[in-house]
Formats: sequence, C-alpha cells, structure tokens
Amino acid sequence: SRTVARDADGVATVGGIPVTRLAEEFGTPAYFLDEDDFRARCRAWHDAFGGGADVFYAGKAFLSRAVVRWLYEEGLNLDVCSAGELSTALAAGMPAERIALHGNNKSTREIERAVEAGVGRIVLDSFQEIARVAHIAERLGRRQRVQIRVTVGVEAHTHEFIATAHEDQKFGIALADGQAAEAVRRVLKLDSLELAGIHSHIGSQIFDMAGFEVSARRVVQLLAEVRDEHGVELPEIDLGGGLGIAYTSEDDPREPHEIARSLASIVTRECEVAGLAVPRISVEPGRAVVGPTTFTLYEVGTLKELPGLRTYVSVDGGMSDNIRTALYDAEYSVSLVSRTSTAGPMLSRVVGKHCESGDIVVRDAFLPADLAPGDLLAVPATGAYCRSMASNYNHALRPPVVAVKNGEARVIMRRETEEDLLRLDVG
Ligand code: LLP
Repeated sequence: SRTVARDADGVATVGGIPVTRLAEEFGTPAYFLDEDDFRARCRAWHDAFGGGADVFYAGKAFLSRAVVRWLYEEGLNLDVCSAGELSTALAAGMPAERIALHGNNKSTREIERAVEAGVGRIVLDSFQEIARVAHIAERLGRRQRVQIRVTVGVEAHTHEFIATAHEDQKFGIALADGQAAEAVRRVLKLDSLELAGIHSHIGSQIFDMAGFEVSARRVVQLLAEVRDEHGVELPEIDLGGGLGIAYTSEDDPREPHEIARSLASIVTRECEVAGLAVPRISVEPGRAVVGPTTFTLYEVGTLKELPGLRTYVSVDGGMSDNIRTALYDAEYSVSLVSRTSTAGPMLSRVVGKHCESGDIVVRDAFLPADLAPGDLLAVPATGAYCRSMASNYNHALRPPVVAVKNGEARVIMRRETEEDLLRLDVG
C-alpha cells in the first residue's frame, strides 16, 4: 500500500493537497478517490492479458458517471447488475455493447431495458431466466448475446456471504448432475438467444489462485462437452471477479498480470488437451480496480477510555458509510492524518455514531495516546463496497466522493442533504 506523504506540519497530503484543507472544503466524513490510481489500475487490468481478454469492471463495487467515463477511456467494459446501474452506465455514455447484465432475479423490466439498449451480454442465471430473456428478445425482435453462469463447485476461501461457487447458494446453474449441460441444450434451441459462452464467478476478496484455476478448468471441460454434444465451440468464457486487495499490511494480494498469466495458461493448456480453439477470456474485477484508490476521512468526536482494555474512538460516520466491518468482520487500518504525534500507542476501537454497538469501523488499531476531538483519521482501501453499500441508517446523509487529480479535488458524487431525505418522504 502507498505511504502517506506529509507536509512540514505533519499533515498528510493527497495529490499534494493537505487533508486538513480537504476536510475544510468538503467536510467529513468523505471519500477521497485518486483518479490517476483508478486509471492506472484499469490499464494494469487491460494490459495484463496483452489485449487477449476483455475486462468488465464490476459496477457494484462503486459506480458513478465519472467512473464510467474513466472506464470507457481506459478501454474497459462494464458489468451491471440492476436497472439502476444500467441507467448510470448509459447516462454516462458507455456504449451498450460494452455492458454485461448480471443478476439472479432480473426483473422483466430490467431485461427489457437491457435488450432494448442492446447490451453486449446478458448472463443467464437460472432456467426460468433462459425462457424469460428468450421471450423478451423475441418480442422485441432481437437476437440477444448471452452467457450461462455456472457454479463449478469450488469452495473459495473467503467470508461465507461472498463465496459463490459452492453449490448451496443462490447463484448460477450447477455443473453437477448435468444441470449446466441441460441449460446449454435449452439455450441452443432458442433462436432469439445467441450463446456466446460460459460464466463462472467463484467469490470475492480471494488471494489463493487455486480456486480460479479449478474454475477455469471446469469451464473449459464444459466447452468440450458442448462441442462433443452439439458440434459447437463456444467462443467466450468469463471467469468473474474476486481478486483480493490489501486492507491491512497482513494481506498479500496478487497482481492483475499474475492472475492473467495463470488463467491464460490454464485455459490454453486445457483447450489443447481437449482440442478446442482457445476462447476469448473475460474477467470482472471490481474491488481490485477501485478498492485501493479511495480512503475515508473522518473527524474524531468523542473518546471513551476503558482502563486496561481499550479506548473507543467515535468518528462522525460509521456503519452507514462502511458496513463491511459489521457485516463481514472485515479488517481495516486507520491512521491519524491531521498532525504527527510522538505519544505512545493506545489500543483503540474506531466506532461510528450510529445507535448500535456493532457500529465498528476498525475493530483493533493502535492510535496515538494523545488523540483528541477534532483530529482527522483516514481509513484506506474504502473504494469498493463502501459508498455503494452506504445507507441512510439513523437518517445519516451519505458522504460525498471527491476525486483528486493533479493537486485538484472535485466532487463526483455530492453529499446527501436533509432535503434529499425529505424529498422521498411524501407522507
Ligand atoms: N462478477 C460477479 C458476477 C460478481 O458477483 C462480483 C461481485 C464481481 C464480478 C466482482 O467481484 P470483486 O472483483 O469486486 O471481488 N459486498 C461484498 C462483495 C460482494 C461481491 C459481489 N459480487 C464485500 O463488500 O466484500
């Protein structure tokens, strides 16, 4: 992870701007996103496969119109999983053919919107959906490109709620018991669907390459079965997202080029064995593109010291801007950024301002013992699944996202206001 630069007063700077100035101008809590870093990560993914694969950024990690424009400019595609994400993508000018639609229960309206817009790919997640999408495409006079999402039966080593390739969960069609083969059979019979390939996403925040490798191998094996049964070689496979990032110094993530090399070599080797032409690979990283680009800036409000135990440090946000600690036991780091301190370490728990004791931002951290109200704390690696999972719990106003580039900061998603909340309240 990148080290924080400090100015002569010990104030951390971001792209040359002191965080104290950012806090004054934009308030706290706020997310600050380094645009150059975001673009560099897009390029790293794009270049990792040497142009031999398509990268679909997973919009669920964080989506805004500015982000869509950056993706477009850096040559990435976009994976959306709702009408809301689709409309943001289209509003920002992403060409429909570069958009893929996901979801285990897409509504009829969502499917219609996607087919009408001409999205490049709809990922079919269930047997019902095969018929549903075929029917809608037929009615609209379109032939829709689709992939079938399969579950390959691997246990990804991550939190239960974000592991998706084992059988006992809601996503996809199992390879087991010939389910996926049956789905292929049905799709191939439907004139309004063009079966482009097979999709597998095994989970999220994964460090171990083994799961991806098993997934790639099993997907290629299915392509071989399809060729044997139907005489058709499907041209695409999508191996999903899920590459983990460093939240703390203990995490040791793989780089895009490492995952690319490993996936490409397994797919190539398996295809050689099966006598298949190598399909076009696509991947769907979300967290690994946006996660590390962003930090959250908070102001300390109160401190409660429990002698011999720990100090509770309350900040002006919490589970409404970062639910991940409460939901997944996620780990984050935190540091004092508005000044330097020579005080000794104090075992701290950084908590939010919400009305429950599980409202924890950073479970265990050492902060300087002279920490005081008004100090600013930064929590890094909050670019993915923080703003996008933010809530209005306790009628909190969701924080802005501020993009920093070349020493300038601009709001790309503004802070919510009380008027925003009242606008929805029509009683
Ligand atoms: N593709 C599909 C089909 C997905 O379901 C996901 C994530 C991705 C790609 C992107 O995965 P990534 O590269 O970001 O790991 N809210 C959880 C993560 C849920 C992930 C859902 N699907 C968290 O905060 O950890």
